[in-house]
Amino acid sequence: MTTRALLAALRRREPPDPRALEAFAKGLADRSVSDAQAGAFAMAVCMGGLGPEGRVALTRAMRDSGRCLRWALDGPVLDKHSTGGLGDCVSLVLAPALAACGAYVPMISGRGLGHTGGTLDKLEAIPGVSVDLDEARFRAVVDEAGCAIVGASPDIAPADKRLYAVRDVTATVESLDLITASILSKKLAAGLDGLVLDVKLGSGAFMKTEDDARALAGALVETANAAGCPTQALITDMSQPLAPAMGNALEVLAAVDVLGGRAGGALLDLSCALGGAVLAGAGLADTPALGAAKMREAVEGGAALERFGRMVVAQGGPMGFVDAPARYLPEAPVIREVPAPRDGWITAMAGEALGLATVALGAGRAVETDRVDPAVGLGDILPLGHEVRRGQPLCRIHAAREAQAEEAAATIRAAISIGDAAPDLPPLIHGRVG
Ligand code: URA
Repeated sequence: MTTRALLAALRRREPPDPRALEAFAKGLADRSVSDAQAGAFAMAVCMGGLGPEGRVALTRAMRDSGRCLRWALDGPVLDKHSTGGLGDCVSLVLAPALAACGAYVPMISGRGLGHTGGTLDKLEAIPGVSVDLDEARFRAVVDEAGCAIVGASPDIAPADKRLYAVRDVTATVESLDLITASILSKKLAAGLDGLVLDVKLGSGAFMKTEDDARALAGALVETANAAGCPTQALITDMSQPLAPAMGNALEVLAAVDVLGGRAGGALLDLSCALGGAVLAGAGLADTPALGAAKMREAVEGGAALERFGRMVVAQGGPMGFVDAPARYLPEAPVIREVPAPRDGWITAMAGEALGLATVALGAGRAVETDRVDPAVGLGDILPLGHEVRRGQPLCRIHAAREAQAEEAAATIRAAISIGDAAPDLPPLIHGRVG
């Protein structure tokens, strides 16, 4: 079937032929499919959908459009994917903790997207660390530390790279089928034995309603399992930043604080819950709860920190990083408090606005070619439900320039609501799928 025939079938809302999707994905990768055809495909899928079987077929086809890794290791190869949030540095805690529990974690991760941060940008805040490793080096780091966090090389799911760029400019990002195939094609190409998905829900997430989050989690879990990777999802709260920090170096510091036993809270709890689920799925724990306890032990006993330190060094970072992270991480020249405007309780946070304020400080990108400033962001962010006195800092802005701090302060003041009574707090985990 030609691309034209595939597009005509989609226009008639007929289920797509899996072999036609395979040929289409290969055509995207070798550029024999044109941008016009890719755009028409994306719009047709957005409008008519692919159906569950078509979604699996597209995911497989995009996965197989490039290189698929195979591993021969003495433990299961596991990973996590998050749909993106604020202060979400779970990967930096979870990957080394899973490694300390006997798994291998070859994490192919991404950069910041929209108002959310990206794990690669965070890790690169550590001087010397490289996330652009060739396959031999990637394998050597996984061997040495049990985990590695890298960017996708050009030969991992190249059909997705091409289609994603076209979707970005044709208003076709928002399709359950296309999002599912895009996320999973890259993850499944890493040759995983198990995957856990962190589908975020709330003001700082892409999915703002429970129905949307459940639909995405259901599509991802069903598709990944049908494509041969045992997968489950947790729907987790993103109505406030997960760590008390947003920004690259600040989140590395928050993650190392958790790994070093100096902090706990939602970041530790969620890392353990996600890790526990995937450990249980892979048979390294009898139940998700026992898996979570194993993760906590790996953190509290220092084994996860030791793995993180090994990974940092193996990826080019400084030897003593985990013992004195603040000595190595860059610091912003301007640090300014955002005082509470009145007495009361923190009742709500406009997460997307907080994320965009952090991006505007330079922690993320407005266009793809922007360079991020690793030092900037928000620190010491007070959580929902915290009782504050007028003038007490709601957070600290870390900025490159006074004017930027000033602008961020106005946005943050408007984004954090103070009420007269303590609010009902949302649960950290709203549900499980799979
Ligand atoms: N992240 C991806 O990798 N792909 C999408 O389509 C959306 C989010």
